[in-house]
Amino acid sequence: MPFPVEETDRLLSTTRSVRRRLDLERPVPEELILDCIDLAEQAPTGGNQPSRRWLVIRDPKVKAALADLYREAGGSWLSERASALAGSGDPRERAARSGGYLADHLHEVPALVLVTIYGEHDGSGRPGLFDSVLQAAWSFCLAARSRGLGTAWTTLHLGAADKVADLLEIPDGVTQVVLLPVAFTIGDDFAVVARRPSRDITWFDKWGRTLERPTNGNPVKFTDGAGITVEVDIDAKAPAIWPLVSDINLPARFSDEFQGAEWLDEEPAVGARFTGRNKRDDLGEWEATCTLVEYEPERVFAWHAGDPDSPAAQWRFEIEPLLGGTRLRFSMVLGPGTSGLTAAIEAMPDKESAIIANRQKGQAANMRRTIEGIRDLAESTP
Ligand SMILES: Cc1cc2nc3c(=O)[nH]c(=O)nc-3n(C[C@H](O)[C@H](O)[C@H](O)COP(=O)(O)O)c2cc1C
Repeated sequence: MPFPVEETDRLLSTTRSVRRRLDLERPVPEELILDCIDLAEQAPTGGNQPSRRWLVIRDPKVKAALADLYREAGGSWLSERASALAGSGDPRERAARSGGYLADHLHEVPALVLVTIYGEHDGSGRPGLFDSVLQAAWSFCLAARSRGLGTAWTTLHLGAADKVADLLEIPDGVTQVVLLPVAFTIGDDFAVVARRPSRDITWFDKWGRTLERPTNGNPVKFTDGAGITVEVDIDAKAPAIWPLVSDINLPARFSDEFQGAEWLDEEPAVGARFTGRNKRDDLGEWEATCTLVEYEPERVFAWHAGDPDSPAAQWRFEIEPLLGGTRLRFSMVLGPGTSGLTAAIEAMPDKESAIIANRQKGQAANMRRTIEGIRDLAESTP
């Protein structure tokens, strides 16, 4: 029987980290938790080994001691940060308030479920242990949500894993993975949150190869919006990276194709234009007028080459803040307007997908050198 897709999608897209809306007053029946564990145990394990063990902690004294360890290992910092950001309007304020609330109230949550597995990670670089437990822990969260229970994925206690093991009498050779506070939720209307769209983070067939439109596995055509995305993590903040990203001449230092650029308009802003000079053995030399299509200082610098409404190529730098650093994304999409490739494709239509693939490969190399160059410069900026 087919699943009601709308309902499964609602479950998958609204199973949030619930903290402030955990009902601390209402007891959670043991059977409900065990049902969730039975469902979670349907998840795959390596070698079909039944090695997961679930600890359900309800004793107020044990919960209090565990909550103390959670706070000692970092939870208190969450509470302090929540207080520091309160009323500041900082975009992180809401998450901090939520994290701080849970740290302050963990001992009051009706049940704390610690998910563990027999074994210790061998450090081989293969997932090897966690990959037999994480999917079950998440299934538990989904099963809980569909029963009106909220959970939050927490790991801070792992900073005090040895003390947690002492407290809960967990033997050596068992790995603690995640601690899930479980309670009925106050209300049921959890939101779908903004995440990157799949086409932004899905590569087709080779790393970094993007497609704007479905090809369903058929040879890629120019009209499919084939592109490249390269990314690099930078140990610097956006203010150090932005001057490099918004310097239209900088890529010429790293690309073997892009020669340089000049502004045609005075102020960089959406709609401002510059000319870019390019050179390639097979395509010769060409100049393109480029138009800024997105300009958000310290975040996005994007331009279209050629006709801004029907560009030969679409280029985009994006600076994404991460905890402790920054990720720089540089992406390019071919077309949909005519470009240097159009003549080649018209001359050899049976080679269309190979011509595109070749172009992507060349661009990927230049773009990677560019972002790595930006990283090196940003990281050496005092
Ligand atoms: C590996 C991992 C560790 C996490 N550790 C904690 C934690 O210790 N405490 C906490 O309050 N939330 C923790 N979270 C929850 C994230 O902060 C949470 O997923 C994020 O706020 C996004 O909210 P959402 O799950 O509602 O989308 C963790 C999540 C993951 C995946």
